[in-house]
Amino acid sequence: MLRRDFLKMFGAGGIYYAASSAFSSFASTEAKIVTPTLDPKITLLLSDCHINGYLDKHPQHIRQTFCEIVAEIAKMECLPQRIVCLGDFSYLWGHKQDYVLARELLKPLTDLGVEFTVLLGNHDRRSVFLEVYPEYLKSTKIPGRVVSVVDAGAIDYIMLDGLVGADDRNMNDMGPGHGMFCKDQQDWLLAELPKWKKPVAFCSHWPIESLNVGEEPFANLLAKSPNVFGYIYGHKHRWRQSMVKNDSDTKSVQTLCIPSAGYWGDIGYAIMRTEGDISEVTLTQKGFWYPKPNPNIKIWNMITRENNGLNCIFHLPKS
Ligand SMILES: [Fe+2]
Repeated sequence: MLRRDFLKMFGAGGIYYAASSAFSSFASTEAKIVTPTLDPKITLLLSDCHINGYLDKHPQHIRQTFCEIVAEIAKMECLPQRIVCLGDFSYLWGHKQDYVLARELLKPLTDLGVEFTVLLGNHDRRSVFLEVYPEYLKSTKIPGRVVSVVDAGAIDYIMLDGLVGADDRNMNDMGPGHGMFCKDQQDWLLAELPKWKKPVAFCSHWPIESLNVGEEPFANLLAKSPNVFGYIYGHKHRWRQSMVKNDSDTKSVQTLCIPSAGYWGDIGYAIMRTEGDISEVTLTQKGFWYPKPNPNIKIWNMITRENNGLNCIFHLPKS
């Protein structure tokens, strides 16, 4: 029996046997139960999961890939302490079934104590999300929006809600393609950011170029805030690193786009490890496809090979 089959037999739950001798001797009295540890320095970054709760009607590859990712993470001997998920958690329309199923699919990790925080993308629907995840009603920094601050030890993540008007749209409308912060959220950012004490990464679903705060590009505010070390987003379904300048061309913000966890484009997840004065993000690319997997398309396989293992390093400011 292969080690991975053995692990599978006991579920992706992460409680596994470690034998002091070779694996084949697991049945011996030397076997003992080891509980995997959570590593506070590690964060799993997921985006654009597009979980489809209608099990029979929608593409199966999305959910299958997401489950593969969850199982792969659950087998890590040092688990990420937390998951930060960058929106488009629902398939396309923000249906309740999607959010209910998403919670179920994450259980192999959350049952092990992995913390989970998600923000909203254009395919989400805030009121439906809050029905299934009412805890955000209490934790949000901005009433009426889903804004989270995640304490990750040496750093913080501020997870913003750029979803505009999503609850006014028809049930089968796919949501607004652009992002926007409400006035209360903009005021909160302008008031809080100058006082922020720890190195902080900002997260939202949309590219930074499409967002404004106080009638200025969001990049202006982040570039002049000494404790901000980066901006992490989704929406594009591609791994993309770039330095975005403020509009006076004097400073820049390092940005990173995280691939989709199963829908289309670059497919995969990223592990962010913070140690000393850097946060290093490493991509595990599981595939590339549009609109669905096809192992015979050579260029897609090449993209996957080339992207897998790519790194992005954020340098942390001294706080
Ligand atoms: Fe998406």
